[in-house]
Amino acid sequence: DKGEYRHFMLKEIHEQPAAIANTLEGTLGEDHVLTAVLGPEAETRLKDIQNIHIVACGTSYHAGLVARYWIEEQAGLPCQVEVASEYRYRQVAVPANTLLIAISQSGETADTLAALRYAKQQGYLASLAICNVAGSSLVREADWRLLTKAGPEIGVASTKAFTTQLVALLWMTTALAQVNDRAPEMISANVRALKGLPRLVEKVLHLDQHIEELAATFASKHHALFLGRGPHYPIAMEGALKLKEISYIHAEAYAAGELKHGPLALVDENMPVVSVAPSDSLLEKLNSNLQEVRARGGQLINFACERAELDNGEGSIHLSLPWVYESVSPIVYTLPLQLLSYRVALVKGTDVDKPRNLAKSVTVE
Ligand code: F6R
Repeated sequence: DKGEYRHFMLKEIHEQPAAIANTLEGTLGEDHVLTAVLGPEAETRLKDIQNIHIVACGTSYHAGLVARYWIEEQAGLPCQVEVASEYRYRQVAVPANTLLIAISQSGETADTLAALRYAKQQGYLASLAICNVAGSSLVREADWRLLTKAGPEIGVASTKAFTTQLVALLWMTTALAQVNDRAPEMISANVRALKGLPRLVEKVLHLDQHIEELAATFASKHHALFLGRGPHYPIAMEGALKLKEISYIHAEAYAAGELKHGPLALVDENMPVVSVAPSDSLLEKLNSNLQEVRARGGQLINFACERAELDNGEGSIHLSLPWVYESVSPIVYTLPLQLLSYRVALVKGTDVDKPRNLAKSVTVE
């Protein structure tokens, strides 16, 4: 039932504050994460993990890419991320004490499931499923599970499943940091930020009105570029995927630093450039990338922190987000990109909940 909403996708976008709160329920202490959520012996077994491999498809793969930045920086563990359809058909070299993480909303994606089965013969320490469906094949077959509690996702384009996957992955990163005795201030700051996330996400949903205003110009374009740096690069990838999927506008994401290595040649007044610009340590670098776009007449749309000093030249549209703690920022910046693709698709009149050629669950290769 779509209730007051016109589409399941919009309903599911608005369900994110509750979906995140449900996913976190019972997983956090005062200033630490409750590792027992993973099972009785998790605490000791977590300590043995020295490496992480992540496999997934599509949007779930993007969640894995964000997690790599978190895991390497905060837990200090090497982490690799790969699309399941590639991973399952190659000989992987698995270092000692590696944890395999398979991420899937449905838990039935053929390639992800096959990747897990393949991994079981490769000498991993253990496998963990991050999944939204408790009774799914993936959850049944993995050693450990971390359930996202997003509730059923009906829209083909994944929204609340993605942000809750990110929540589960930040929780997991914090758990790994905790058992490895990493800085306690970082751990308690993550816990605080996770607890504050539902309210923050709620606030960011109010940007919808401004996003609606710019959707019309966007809808007349045939291509778009999405730029981000650090963990916001995979968020740019997710924004581009959402736009492609439901509005059928060709979109590509680049790490902002790659711009001048090729894609800048595409930029002119017909190429909107969407940038994800939180107030982090990379802002200054991003700023100079944006100037390059502006100098070539590109239409810039910046999703930026209200505290960020982006020089706003002519022709740029600036949408402000509240300041957020760095760890949770990729989660928060996902929302305006979901809304952008939704609003553009509405203008174009596409079938938002059932985009052409796509199925909700890809159970065949
Ligand atoms: C995009 C989307 C797909 C899925 C992918 C994996 O919006 O929904 O890219 O993310 O098919 O599906 P799950 O997560 O069920 O394994």
